[in-house]
Amino acid sequence: MGSLQPEDVFAPVLHTERLALTLFNMNDEDDLEFVVMMFNMQMPGGGPTDGNWTGKDIRRLSYSLMLKPSDAHGRLSKDAAIYLARLGDATGPRIGVINLCRRTPIVPIDIGYMVLPEHRKSGYATEGATRVLRYITEEFGIKEICLVTDDSNIASKKIAEKLNMVDGGHVMMSGNKCVVFVLPGMKKLEGQDFPFWGDGEEF
Ligand SMILES: CC(C)(COP(=O)(O)OP(=O)(O)OC[C@H]1O[C@@H](n2cnc3c(N)ncnc32)[C@H](O)[C@@H]1OP(=O)(O)O)[C@@H](O)C(=O)NCCC(=O)NCCS
Repeated sequence: MGSLQPEDVFAPVLHTERLALTLFNMNDEDDLEFVVMMFNMQMPGGGPTDGNWTGKDIRRLSYSLMLKPSDAHGRLSKDAAIYLARLGDATGPRIGVINLCRRTPIVPIDIGYMVLPEHRKSGYATEGATRVLRYITEEFGIKEICLVTDDSNIASKKIAEKLNMVDGGHVMMSGNKCVVFVLPGMKKLEGQDFPFWGDGEEF
């Protein structure tokens, strides 16, 4: 039986007017350090071991939430579908993360984002998420993407609107209700379990 070999599946760099979006390389120390820092800032105390997020936690999470061959034209990606937003070109400073995650087979792949506090409210999350969504739907060919957020997250709900997403019902994350936005024509979610760490195979 042939087994799939991990390969380059996703575009290494995407460009927008002001940003270069580079595919997260979890074997690159600087990339990993940036994502660890973002998680410790955004979800302090949320790391799985003692609260503090480590490189190992980020690698485990990234592997766990990778798009599966059934999402990716039968191909096994060696990378998570996570892009780092950099100012200017692909060597510019990292200012944010835009991620596509497969948490569970019963909820479509979700798009998410984080931007460094000092760079917020400048349109970067909207600009980066718009490009990543266009890439994955129109260029890569995945038809169903959702966006899951807390009902109180005004910025995130505005971004969903700017991405032309529509009311997609709700899911449950660790017992909390989260609102969902979907692409027009997709089915609404009805309270499905949305496990942050995913329920797929872990490497
Ligand atoms: C959510 C987040 C990524 C937004 O990043 P950003 O680069 O500031 O977003 P944008 O500049 O593209 O702003 C999008 C819209 O939200 C608005 N907005 C941004 N921050 C806001 C805030 N704190 N309160 C209210 N509105 C806000 C912007 O004004 C803009 O709306 P407008 O075009 O009508 O003015 C950023 O706040 C963040 O990293 N938050 C923590 C992580 C998070 O919550 N991620 C989303 C999880 S689903």
